[in-house]
Amino acid sequence: MKLQDKVVFITGAGRGIGRESAKRFAKEGAKLVLMSRTKHQLDELARELFELYDTDSLVEPCDVTNAAQVKAAVENALATFAKIDILLNAAGVGHLKPVTELSVEEFDQMIDVNLKGVFYASKFVTEAMAKQKSGLVINLPGILGKAVMRMSSGYSASKYGVTGLTRAMMQDFARDGVKFTLLHFGGVDTPFWDNITMKVQREKMISVHHAAEMILLAATQPAQFVLNELVLQPESHQL
Ligand SMILES: NC(=O)c1ccc[n+]([C@@H]2O[C@H](COP(=O)([O-])OP(=O)(O)OC[C@H]3O[C@@H](n4cnc5c(N)ncnc54)[C@H](OP(=O)(O)O)[C@@H]3O)[C@@H](O)[C@H]2O)c1
Repeated sequence: MKLQDKVVFITGAGRGIGRESAKRFAKEGAKLVLMSRTKHQLDELARELFELYDTDSLVEPCDVTNAAQVKAAVENALATFAKIDILLNAAGVGHLKPVTELSVEEFDQMIDVNLKGVFYASKFVTEAMAKQKSGLVINLPGILGKAVMRMSSGYSASKYGVTGLTRAMMQDFARDGVKFTLLHFGGVDTPFWDNITMKVQREKMISVHHAAEMILLAATQPAQFVLNELVLQPESHQL
């Protein structure tokens, strides 16, 4: 088992990429901190993982836009498991619209969840990782945190922010044993797309299964290397 006794903290664990990654990590023996706002989804996931793999999970219902709640969730995780080896920042929201149709509330929500949420979780978890002198943070800016498209103004603003934040954190921790990986996925078929009005071909997207396999690859990168960045696109979308 590739992640035996590793502790993985996952924001956005209730659905989509975070949920599928939790399952993949559990299969490899990880202990999990499951965080998102919808408690019943986390409880159901924790139950399923216990039945399948005997997984030790801590359920932390929490809004990633609330710094105090995120700090408390990290403290609970450390009180329970004594360490955090990997942070997967998978909480996120998307509104893909022309800038004239994007509301102020939608823009603010993307900055709050996608950028400030990643800052809060990364800040509080890396404080612990710095003491441990080891750890890995995996962030998901997606391809729209590296290249823009029509209707991506607000979302790309939040996700380019994640890319910039992560690259700067890499420098902060350059010699301290804490590593960062940026995953730039193209479209992944998850509930993320359920409320997006833009026309997309979900059947051509990356499956959530393949996304989780790539995240496992990042999570199990050899100690002597760092996987700084990975770009994965559906075959029809080569850059
Ligand atoms: N799907 C794609 O095509 C794609 C591609 C590249 C990158 N990404 C990025 O990958 C990440 C995961 O996306 P996904 O497709 O898995 O999305 P998803 O299926 O919509 O799941 C998003 C998760 O984030 C949680 N979340 C949302 N707002 C939150 C908040 N304020 N506090 C805590 N948790 C919150 C949701 O739970 P609650 O609502 O219950 O809180 C849910 O568990 C996102 O950052 C997304 O931007 C997605």
